[in-house]
Amino acid sequence: MPQRKQHNVFENNEKIKLPDLDFLSTLNSQQKNAVLNTEGPLLVLSGAGTGKTKVLTTRLANIIYTRKGSIKDILCVTFTNKAAFEMKMRVEKILKMPVEGMFIGTFHSIGAKFLRRHANLINLKNDFTILDSEDQLRLLKQVINSLDLDTKLHLPKSYLYMIDQLKNQGLSHSEISNHEFEHKTSGKLSTVYSMYQDRLKNFNSVDFGDLIMLPLEILKKEKDLLFNYQKKFKYILVDEYQDTNASQYMLLRLLSGKKKKYLLCRRRRSIYLWMERSSIKKYFEF
Ligand SMILES: Nc1ncnc2c1ncn2[C@@H]1O[C@H](COP(=O)(O)OP(=O)(O)OP(=O)(O)O)[C@@H](O)[C@H]1O
Ligand SMILES: [Mg+2]
Repeated sequence: MPQRKQHNVFENNEKIKLPDLDFLSTLNSQQKNAVLNTEGPLLVLSGAGTGKTKVLTTRLANIIYTRKGSIKDILCVTFTNKAAFEMKMRVEKILKMPVEGMFIGTFHSIGAKFLRRHANLINLKNDFTILDSEDQLRLLKQVINSLDLDTKLHLPKSYLYMIDQLKNQGLSHSEISNHEFEHKTSGKLSTVYSMYQDRLKNFNSVDFGDLIMLPLEILKKEKDLLFNYQKKFKYILVDEYQDTNASQYMLLRLLSGKKKKYLLCRRRRSIYLWMERSSIKKYFEF
């Protein structure tokens, strides 16, 4: 077979090999549709193991091969580490090149990458540490003790659970005055949550939930930065959308702006099916 010419599809002169000729040939017609319709919003809704990730990775490759965008223009995100690893491997395999510069990974890894770049905007140093749950618990015990609360009534573990849940819901300590958790703790939770956040900052640390919450805080505050990211991510691809929590959804929504060039892959139990936005609006609340 004759050697094909390599095209330069990156602004910074990186070279990329053209795909195999059969790059689309292993897709069925519905998958092909989802891959080729790169410009509109699309939901791939299908059962386990039916080819959602394949659609996502092939669509990404198609965007690059057709020069609609380069890897720096794409946000590609999923829920679990395992899925992110697999997604990245498959993208690299289909592109035949590493994708180190790309925003690809779990919501948390992408949040961490964002936060390392912009930590200064919330008085954090960019070499911050990410606490595990044991460290979180230790910090919460200190806070609860410093407030002279009875730790038999105010269990640090319960506070840890509640704070994690609140962060999953995208709620900061100043937004929970009517939350059931605040009532359950007789109004102590917001104080504990607030002091816990102060201590985290003093230690130049964040917890797992902050990897989404703090980027949200920055993007809500810094409109120019938000605008730049909305412009930067021409395409957004989301795998395992069914597992997305409220704070992750808020982050996606902020980053996508008014853009319609996104793909959401969501697992369902019935047989393979994909539809466009108009027919299943309930899944598209962007
Ligand atoms: N049209 C197709 N023809 C042949 N093999 C396919 C096709 N679509 C997907 N596959 C293969 O089926 C397997 C499952 O695909 P994939 O991982 O993309 O599914 P998924 O829907 O993302 O699964 P999960 O629900 O577990 O995330 C893979 O090995 C993939 O290469
Ligand atoms: Mg998958």
